[in-house]
Amino acid sequence: MSLKIEISLVLNETKVEASVGVTESALELLRREFDLCGAKLACGEGECGACTIIVDGRSRNSCLTPAVDLDGRDVMTVEGLWTEKGVDAVQQAFINEGAVQCGYCTPGMIMQARYLLNRNPDISEAEIIRGLEGNVCRCTGYKKIIAAVKGASRIQEGSPG
Ligand code: FES
Ligand code: FES
Repeated sequence: MSLKIEISLVLNETKVEASVGVTESALELLRREFDLCGAKLACGEGECGACTIIVDGRSRNSCLTPAVDLDGRDVMTVEGLWTEKGVDAVQQAFINEGAVQCGYCTPGMIMQARYLLNRNPDISEAEIIRGLEGNVCRCTGYKKIIAAVKGASRIQEGSPG
């Protein structure tokens, strides 16, 4: 019998509870228990950012985050960015710029961009490039992704992006 631990957290603004395995990752928990499949498993080693989520305001690789570490935390996944008001500025900017090809990296990119813009709404191109260093995209060549993050910054300021 494998050991389980009860945790509670705020997930996408909703208080939830879960029974988690001691070796289970946050990524596995999100998919198994909550059907939140936006965060992707790619490298599984903290190298690609495809699994990025935001925990207590900081971006984290959910593949390397133990599920038990989410106990008592505030967790946001890409699914939580959509509200009744519509998509998040970052999501809208990715649409506007066509910054998606296969889409596998996209949820992680969007969450890392959301984290960067939360910290610095007036982010520079150099800061975007540095901030996305841990997020790998095999398809787009990054130019449209960087443009999308800049566009999201403008959308947040109230201009069309
Ligand atoms: S799957 Fe988590 S960093 Fe690559
Ligand atoms: S759009 Fe394919 S990996 Fe980024």
